[in-house]
Amino acid sequence: MKINRIGRITGITVLVLLLILVVSVSYIFFILPRFPVPQIKVELTPDRIARGKYLANHVSVCIDCHSTRDWSKFSGPMISGTEGKGGERFSREMGLPGEFFATNITPDKLSGWSDGEIYRAIVNGVGKGNRALFPIMPYQYYRYFSTGDVYAIIAYLRTIPSIASQPPASKADFPVNIIMHTFPQPAEPMVIPPKTDTVGYGRYLVSIAVCKDCHTPFLKNKPDEKMAFAGGREFKMPTGTILASNITPDKETGIGNWTKQRFVARFKAFELSGFTPPPVEGTDMVTVMPWTMYAGMDTSDLEAIFAYLRTQAPVKHAMTLWTPSLK
Ligand code: HEC
Ligand code: HEC
Repeated sequence: MKINRIGRITGITVLVLLLILVVSVSYIFFILPRFPVPQIKVELTPDRIARGKYLANHVSVCIDCHSTRDWSKFSGPMISGTEGKGGERFSREMGLPGEFFATNITPDKLSGWSDGEIYRAIVNGVGKGNRALFPIMPYQYYRYFSTGDVYAIIAYLRTIPSIASQPPASKADFPVNIIMHTFPQPAEPMVIPPKTDTVGYGRYLVSIAVCKDCHTPFLKNKPDEKMAFAGGREFKMPTGTILASNITPDKETGIGNWTKQRFVARFKAFELSGFTPPPVEGTDMVTVMPWTMYAGMDTSDLEAIFAYLRTQAPVKHAMTLWTPSLK
């Protein structure tokens, strides 16, 4: 009698727990992410398009991922004529939980999207039909975009040449395919500080240029805040592993001894007007740092970034940046 009752209660408890689990997983999978599409209309003014072009190519480097890159050359420069075409593959070999493809963001694809839908994809990480985007698309940083700058990027994307191309659909492995429905977050649009506030302005640029994402190592799937900008995040490439550098003001292992001029010159050296990316051969270092794109940043913007990085805590973190795979 007693045992029977205990058995029944245990059975009911297990059933209830199972039900809660099924309901939660279904909620996450079928209902999340929940972000409304803002009702906006972006006017295509020349100023806006120019600002968007600058941001998409040289600061927030959308075009870095959403075009075809020539990885046989230093820093994988973009193959011209592929702007926005999509197709770059981010795969399990790079240590990712699935296979993800940058999408086509030329009018060929986005002409069927409202301005609000593009806005939501950039700042919340939610695509058309409530699709949660995998955070290789760095919406965790783009959520700080000023509203005007997102409008500028939308305006620019409306004007780039349409390229017919349909990259394969991204596919996340279980259980990430369920968990990632919880990744999109509300936007926190920043008001762009005046340029005279160099550090504040630099902070804004560092957010929308996603520097911290690559330059901070991960601890339990999250950026390790104690190591912010201290480098060491690994990028597995076909011919070896590259680590991001320490860009904190530590004098020995970071860029604490650099002057503003040296910092700016380090970027400007890769400006395509005077630099031809050399082929990478054999065990040559391969880098994911999009040097040739950032090189087009205005000097004053690079100076502001430097000023902001200067205010960060110095972290001692020495490392060997490049380890070729032994073949
Ligand atoms: C580091 C690489 C990277 C950068 C930088 C990047 N994206 Fe993406 N983006 C991706 C990937 C990968 C996807 C696909 C994610 C997925 O399928 O889950 C994506 C998806 C998108 C989508 C959704 C399209 C669709 O068809 O679902 C839009 C829109 C988009 N990106 C626009 C942008 C814009 C605008 C910028 C710059 C402000 C940008 N991206 C910067 C990698 C990137
Ligand atoms: C896609 C990942 C990625 C992004 C985004 C990125 N970096 Fe890097 N960065 C790297 C890697 C990897 C290296 C080391 C290899 C090299 O020098 O190219 C590096 C190197 C550097 C160096 C050279 C340091 C030295 O000691 O020579 C500086 C400076 C730098 N990054 C600053 C920045 C800033 C500022 C931003 C944002 C505007 C940024 N990075 C964004 C990956 C990235």
